[in-house]
Amino acid sequence: MVKKYIYYSQPTLDASDLSCLNKVFKSNFLTQGPQIPLFEKKISDFVNSKFAVGLNSATSALHAACFSLGFRKNDILWTVPNTFVGSANCAKYLGGKVDFVDINYTTKNIDIELLEKKLNNTSKKKLPKVLVTVDFAGNPVSQDKIFKLSKKYKFKIIEDASHALGALYKKEKVGSCRWCDVTIFSFHPVKTITTGEGGVATTNSKNIYENLKMFRTHGITREKNKLINKKESKKNWYYEQQFLGFNYRLTDIAASLGLNQMKKIGKILKKRNKIAKFYSKNLKGLPLLLPIVEKTSFSTFHLFSISITLSNPEKIQKRMHDYLRSFGILTNLHYLPVHLHPYYKKQGFKINDFPNAELHAKSSLSIPIYPNLKFESQKKIVGLIKNFFKKY
Ligand SMILES: Cc1ncc(COP(=O)(O)O)c(C=O)c1O
Repeated sequence: MVKKYIYYSQPTLDASDLSCLNKVFKSNFLTQGPQIPLFEKKISDFVNSKFAVGLNSATSALHAACFSLGFRKNDILWTVPNTFVGSANCAKYLGGKVDFVDINYTTKNIDIELLEKKLNNTSKKKLPKVLVTVDFAGNPVSQDKIFKLSKKYKFKIIEDASHALGALYKKEKVGSCRWCDVTIFSFHPVKTITTGEGGVATTNSKNIYENLKMFRTHGITREKNKLINKKESKKNWYYEQQFLGFNYRLTDIAASLGLNQMKKIGKILKKRNKIAKFYSKNLKGLPLLLPIVEKTSFSTFHLFSISITLSNPEKIQKRMHDYLRSFGILTNLHYLPVHLHPYYKKQGFKINDFPNAELHAKSSLSIPIYPNLKFESQKKIVGLIKNFFKKY
């Protein structure tokens, strides 16, 4: 019996995280206090964006971003199938329609040639209002190329960088929004940094920023210059709900944890990249496609997803997962293709619609990678994988 499992990811927590939580408990501000704007400023400074809005998850940030870009009932959103369902669901919350663009099997990110072809072959009325790109595993999408297409075909871009806080593309921080309208980050415990649950949306547009802020708090504003009932503006207690928003606020507790985690982000990224380098060097030569990061990019290595290149990979994938599990090494699949979930199948999607994402799902496993993963464990994982492939 295995006594202790090694998970595919773990948060990087220490005593300093606990002591910052102690401080916030003593402050009496558990939510809507001073830690939230401080954390937002920390994030916008880090990614070089004008604005950052903290929310209680990346899922709510995606929802808020779509709304803030004017996405409404019957509008169309495109994204990739190789992602978490949240990247697509944001359209459904607003009564919109979802379609997908397949990934490139090698990069695991959106296939830009396929995107261009699909845009070209789609009638004007059916073009997307919003495209959600996903930086899979923290490896940035070639967003500049997508940005050019967005100008030609007139769609807005949300970069779902849930995996990619700290990633770089062509010397530009992911989140600077140089080549997109809004970027989303997730602070779920398995991500680069954590706030428990939490997310942030960054943008350079004042208008999007104002909408994001109101959307996360019921559509309410207290700002005097924005009030519809101007004559009430002298009453300090007065506030107005101007549209239907949600309670999507980040708490002060979460923000203070995020602020403390940000102190460690440099070390976290270095460590993840060091482990990725070790894996890449030592798994070379096996029948595996390993993660590929372009020279102009820096990945966060939120995941280390490896794909089996032998024929019939699905069987081998299951065997490899079970084999590693029997030694206490837990692997996972990122991702079950979104279009094959029963909810999306009901909307007409079927097997073979997006073959690259489907092949990826049949052949890949994410092996453990996180800053506190011991070198001994890394060596054990490599040794077991080598051993596993001896018979193939
Ligand atoms: C690509 C991607 N998008 C969105 C989300 C949703 O993030 P959250 O759990 O913060 O809502 C995740 C989380 O796993 C994700 O991996």
